[in-house]
Amino acid sequence: MKRIAPSVLSANFADLRADLEMINRSDADWLHVDVMDGVFVPNISFGFPLMEPMRKFCTKPLDVHLMIVHPEKYVERFCDAGAWSVGFHLEAVDDPLPILDLIKAKGVRTCLTINPDIAVERLVPYLDKVDMVLLMSVFAGFGGQKFIPETMDKIRFIRQEIDRRGLKTLVEIDGGVNTQNASELFAAGADVLVAGSAVFGASDPEEAIRIMKR
Ligand code: DX5
Ligand code: ZN
Repeated sequence: MKRIAPSVLSANFADLRADLEMINRSDADWLHVDVMDGVFVPNISFGFPLMEPMRKFCTKPLDVHLMIVHPEKYVERFCDAGAWSVGFHLEAVDDPLPILDLIKAKGVRTCLTINPDIAVERLVPYLDKVDMVLLMSVFAGFGGQKFIPETMDKIRFIRQEIDRRGLKTLVEIDGGVNTQNASELFAAGADVLVAGSAVFGASDPEEAIRIMKR
């Protein structure tokens, strides 16, 4: 199954409701919600106040991607704020397991994420302990960056590992995804593609989503 999760980071915040209604009408599967703290990444996006309108006006599941230090302090609040899944960066924490447990205790799906400079092998011990892994295909922090081609081999590696062990763990790819590379990414083993600028920057965002799912 091919899933597309448009990243709200590239939406028009002056008219967020219109963009959320477009997402509702579209073939998008989830809404990807990028939370940045200005410490883990050199950029600040938004936090809890925007979860409220997104939960209210978006009918698609909210896929929360935390780019923050100390995710253990905030994961439960994001669950309570209506997240459908909550992910945080492996390299931001000492031990992800207790934080995954906090999310699971809320009945919310878990995701572990790594930046492009973190060895994909580091995810292997956690594959049976999370619902999803997210491989960043750009360095976390900004929308509109160029896809890093080395991600392709990492997708194949993690897909093979998941299938070999008969796991159901989803593979999500985030950064530089567009209508040109989407089919190649799905073919390599991705289950979910995040796309910010390729959706919200398109003249016809709904059509861009359709093309990426073809
Ligand atoms: C980057 C974010 C991405 C970003 C993707 O730190 O995690 O989700 O919004 O944007 P594009 O699709 O424009 O690369
Ligand atoms: Zn993201």
